Amino acid sequence: MARFSGKVVLISGGARGQGAAEARLLVAEGAKVVLGDLLEAEGRALAAELGSAAQFVHQDVTKEEDWARAVAAAEAMGGLHGMVNNAGIYVPRPLMQTDAELFERHMRVNQLGCFLGMQAVVPAMERAGGGSIVNISSTAGLRGSPGALAYCATKWALRGMTKAAAVDLAPRGIRVNSVHPGPIETDMVKVWTNEQRAVRLSQIPIGRIGQAEDVARVVLFLLSEESAYMTGAELAVDGGASL
Ligand SMILES: NC(=O)c1ccc[n+]([C@@H]2O[C@H](COP(=O)([O-])OP(=O)(O)OC[C@H]3O[C@@H](n4cnc5c(N)ncnc54)[C@H](O)[C@@H]3O)[C@@H](O)[C@H]2O)c1
Repeated sequence: MARFSGKVVLISGGARGQGAAEARLLVAEGAKVVLGDLLEAEGRALAAELGSAAQFVHQDVTKEEDWARAVAAAEAMGGLHGMVNNAGIYVPRPLMQTDAELFERHMRVNQLGCFLGMQAVVPAMERAGGGSIVNISSTAGLRGSPGALAYCATKWALRGMTKAAAVDLAPRGIRVNSVHPGPIETDMVKVWTNEQRAVRLSQIPIGRIGQAEDVARVVLFLLSEESAYMTGAELAVDGGASL
């Protein structure tokens, strides 16, 4: 039987990039997925490509009512067994070029969004008999990230929130782990100049920028029963960049 047969997974920011890669792998392994995102065209196109196993829901992760709608969509598909807190923004600025508005914008999407997401899925996961939450942090949540103070702050916060939630939710049968990707080839890193990209590449022992599927395979492991005894863990998927 397929590893995710009968399981429903909600992916925030699922319209493109790493979220889309996770959706494709999950559906290939028998899951149903709800793709939440602001990006209507990309989200609807991906859901159409994946067929009846996928549904797109317009979702702003900073809004509680949008989370409620996404959770309801998942339950209508057969319950909610997994959730990937994947939506995020990255507007890199050093400390002295970060104003309060930019700092707050990162906090709202990356941090408040993750908090609202974890809270929103708990009752549905309990009704499903337990579940697994994967919070997508970054190597910027394991060390200082160059020129990205606000982003770094939120990704460290996710690491701590993951551990606190893991303790809170273990008695409810819900596991919570964090994944820390290094540089991954998605739209998010198109802001880098060729020089910034070359510097990052030179810092990766494995010698290549990661692909969305590199992260997606690890996320599937954490969503699956193969990781049944893991909670509060942090897994770097970074080619060794954070070493
Ligand atoms: N690409 C990298 O190098 C890298 C490295 C480390 C961590 N990450 C993290 O991985 C996750 C996925 O990023 P990606 O690389 O696929 O980039 P991406 O920009 O392709 O994907 C991010 C998705 O989040 C969505 N999103 C943004 N704000 C949202 C909001 N308010 N509500 C709902 N959706 C929203 C975007 O529309 C987009 O589809 C992010 O959390 C990111 O911080 C990325």
